[in-house]
Amino acid sequence: MQAIDTSSGRSPLTLSHHLKQRRQRLADRLDQPVVLWSGQRMSRNFPANSYPFRASSHFLYFAGQSIERAAIHLDGGRLTLFLDDPAPSAALWHGPTPSRDQWAEAIAADAAYPYSQLADFLDGALTLPVQDPSSQQQQQHLLQRSFSPTGADADLVQAIVSLRLQHDAAALAELEQAAQVTVRAHQAGMRAIGSTEAQVRAAMEQVIVAANMTCAYNSIVTVHGEVLHNEVYHHPLQPGDLLLADVGAETAGGWAADITRTWPVSGTFSSSQRSLYEVVLAAHDACIAAIQPGVEYRSIHLLGAATLAAGLVDLGILRGAVDDLVDQDVHALFFPHGIGHLLGLDVHDMEDLGDFAGYAPGRQRSDRFGLGYLRLDRPLLPGMVVTIEPGFYQVPALLNDPDRRSRYAPWVNWERLAHFADVRGIRIEDDVLVTDQGHRVLTADLPTSVADLEDWMAG
Ligand code: GLY
Ligand code: MN
Ligand code: MN
Repeated sequence: MQAIDTSSGRSPLTLSHHLKQRRQRLADRLDQPVVLWSGQRMSRNFPANSYPFRASSHFLYFAGQSIERAAIHLDGGRLTLFLDDPAPSAALWHGPTPSRDQWAEAIAADAAYPYSQLADFLDGALTLPVQDPSSQQQQQHLLQRSFSPTGADADLVQAIVSLRLQHDAAALAELEQAAQVTVRAHQAGMRAIGSTEAQVRAAMEQVIVAANMTCAYNSIVTVHGEVLHNEVYHHPLQPGDLLLADVGAETAGGWAADITRTWPVSGTFSSSQRSLYEVVLAAHDACIAAIQPGVEYRSIHLLGAATLAAGLVDLGILRGAVDDLVDQDVHALFFPHGIGHLLGLDVHDMEDLGDFAGYAPGRQRSDRFGLGYLRLDRPLLPGMVVTIEPGFYQVPALLNDPDRRSRYAPWVNWERLAHFADVRGIRIEDDVLVTDQGHRVLTADLPTSVADLEDWMAG
């Protein structure tokens, strides 16, 4: 039989201990039963040619294994698995495949039944969203309702958020593995031999695939870093370019890393690139230094904005008092996104729940230009993992917008900015664990300073 994959060094015994603890913690927070679907693969064109399967993160959190077409029922700390045995024809195409009972043992289930019996366990059950449309239809059909985060399922949403915000030891072990592989992927990217973005991307993803991991999100590897979520890789690398690489691994258990580095294609920063890089790095370092329990993540974002604005004033690109620049969102012309987000089973952890995870109860997104993309607005707690990812971008759609140009005219020295035309986009992103006393950077093995990056590339 094909062995059940408990890879990435997870001991099945330790894992089942943590899985049972998670189930019990849910029971401690919630009286009602819960049903979670794993989902199923979507076909690209015909059924046998499909997109890779990945179970829903909520299912993974309690089951630990990516089992397709399964559902779990959680009640009072007990987990019941609903799954059909593989069809006999599966052996021809997929080899011997684990049975329901083998899966049940692997995930430390208390009981296991065919999927059709799930219908008998749905009385009063709460649920969470599942991504693929077929599973959503089954979910709605069986429950006779859709997911309702502010109605029937509100208590479950709050319980899950409070559990998944603070990672346990098993989660942290996997987050660290994802971080380490991602560090190596970036190291390989900086030394990649190639003349296109695609070749650098291949060198980076090679490290992730060779570690039997997958990418946690679509890689961004681009000389057009001003396109925030650039997902094309055809541009040639020119000696004067900066290359921005935002690439992260995901473990077999589904835990993610998320790192960005920006380096010069030639191996040496120009003086204008170095100046702006160091402004972004100052914001990155100041934000990380401020991370500790109790600190508001929103204040970290504003610290990043202020540090960036101060650096741009020093370079002569902006003028005015830093507080005014941030109050007026002038920094957002060049740093239009938030300082980061939660990281866990999803790279933007739990954003399938909208802002219920990212925003503390009673808080809502601001409509301010400089705050609207802030994805996390909570006081930090030990066990949270957050990204810190300040950037500087020259986005033509923002900088050439006539309304913005006139609104920000008093504060921006456009002639001075023209001296920095060889910088389109810089971002520096690390993954930071909030500890009892302060913080620990999970991705600290990857250098950030100009000198260290240039040294690594030269090596
Ligand atoms: N990789 C996506 C992000 O940094 O948010
Ligand atoms: Mn990120
Ligand atoms: Mn990223």
